[in-house]
Amino acid sequence: MSKPTYHLFLCSSFRKAGVQRGTCHRKGDGLLQYLEEGVVERGIDALVSSTGCVKHCEKGPVLMVYPMGWWYGSVTEDAVDDILDALEDGNSCDGLLHEAHAEGA
Ligand code: FES
Repeated sequence: MSKPTYHLFLCSSFRKAGVQRGTCHRKGDGLLQYLEEGVVERGIDALVSSTGCVKHCEKGPVLMVYPMGWWYGSVTEDAVDDILDALEDGNSCDGLLHEAHAEGA
């Protein structure tokens, strides 16, 4: 497998010993599959992974896009559509960026 252009990390709230605790998995039920399907449908060269808690629970569900380091908070299916639509053109979806990771913040 070649290295993908993008790596998308969706917080799935995993903690020690694999236990899910926190807000992302509760608010984002089904979001990982929706994200995977959206990437495939658009033909975006991206790998999607779920992560442990990234310590921004109050902003959950949290989605991170690397190598750019774009962090999105309170992600919904509609937000995933907007984020992936922008990513198709190599852009961030500025209105949805987590404030702590927005450019210039
Ligand atoms: S559970 Fe996702 S940031 Fe904590």
